[in-house]
Amino acid sequence: MLEKPTLKGKTIVLRPIGPEDAQAMFESLSDEEAKRLTGTQESFTLEQVQAFCTRVPTEDDRYDFAITLPGENRYRGEVVLNEIDWENRSSSFRIAISGAENREKGYGSEATELVLEFGFKTLNLHRIELEVYDFNPRARHVYKKHGFLEEGIRRDALLLEGKFQSAITMSILQPDFLAKQTRQKFEALETERLRIRRLRNDDLEPLVAYRNLPEVAWMQLWQDYDSERARALINGCKVVEPFSANDSFQFAVALKDSDKLIGDLYFKLDEAGKQAEIGYTFDPKFQGQGLATEALKALMDHAFKKHDLHRIYGITDPRNLPSINLMKRVGMQQEAHLRKNLWFKSDWADDVIFAVLEKEWAI
Ligand SMILES: CC(C)(COP(=O)(O)OP(=O)(O)OC[C@H]1O[C@@H](n2cnc3c(N)ncnc32)[C@H](O)[C@@H]1OP(=O)(O)O)[C@@H](O)C(=O)NCCC(=O)NCCS
Repeated sequence: MLEKPTLKGKTIVLRPIGPEDAQAMFESLSDEEAKRLTGTQESFTLEQVQAFCTRVPTEDDRYDFAITLPGENRYRGEVVLNEIDWENRSSSFRIAISGAENREKGYGSEATELVLEFGFKTLNLHRIELEVYDFNPRARHVYKKHGFLEEGIRRDALLLEGKFQSAITMSILQPDFLAKQTRQKFEALETERLRIRRLRNDDLEPLVAYRNLPEVAWMQLWQDYDSERARALINGCKVVEPFSANDSFQFAVALKDSDKLIGDLYFKLDEAGKQAEIGYTFDPKFQGQGLATEALKALMDHAFKKHDLHRIYGITDPRNLPSINLMKRVGMQQEAHLRKNLWFKSDWADDVIFAVLEKEWAI
């Protein structure tokens, strides 16, 4: 029989599920939100759940962990590796946190990481896969953040409340998980007055506020910038590392002393990882003090010197003089003027392209 271990994390403990969990698991099966999000349509009796909890510790193709807190034994949900195919070193993954009071406290993220680590490092699995419904953005975000990639869609797989819903299949492979663990994560760049760092959840409010100001939005691609959009931007940047080829990243620009968000910088690397497009948005309250110049210079300097870039360019509307002046101030020169190149807010607009090459970069 397989040995079923206990896994200890920073805030949670995962211990093997056993018969003592039957009552709590039975109660969790009436959690309407979790039922909906996991597409659970059948109902179970307490006897069935008791039989299940008695059976799983003895089964050789699964590890069922109860999510608990240190010093207490209470079942707060489960995370499971099941249908393990030892021949092909692959497994399915499932997670559900019981009760709204236990969700969004970081337990799901930590449980996912602990089980992936166990699966790949202890069990030497090669592939872990799962299925998630497309109407479950929270779970999809957690999975992406931990390195699962979307690999397919089962269209209209579930009939829920009279409407068909699709299921997304995701997987993570052992080499990718191990590489992700060892990859150095970008933390921050510091200048005299600023910290250029990752966007965080608590940046949402200031981000929405300044991006919605008419004087900020007039030359940007958005019309109304709502919280949902901001959250997608913040979450999107948690699942990629900046300076990855073919990926875009939005850096937060914060004041060094208060860590308050005052702007953001866009950075999109090409497929070869040698050329990048930059963009910037700053809260008008912090414009006119050289802060955008300071931030942009620091980011570009870092990109040229630490990531071996060949060219950095920016695209703006020729009417956007503050933007043009900023690009000139950081040492970029105009390379092109593209006429009527962009369908922008109900009209064709011109684009100008400014750039600087690595060999010209001197600050
Ligand atoms: C999905 C689930 C396991 C996640 O666990 P959790 O403990 O609630 O999640 P965490 O607190 O660790 O993390 C939640 C993350 O989702 C983000 N999030 C919350 N709501 C979101 C939404 N509507 N859209 C996108 N992201 C969202 C949070 O900001 C947080 O991200 P961060 O860590 O990058 O800040 C848990 O919510 C759950 O059991 N849900 C019900 C059952 C379920 O959906 N199971 C998965 C079926 S495939």
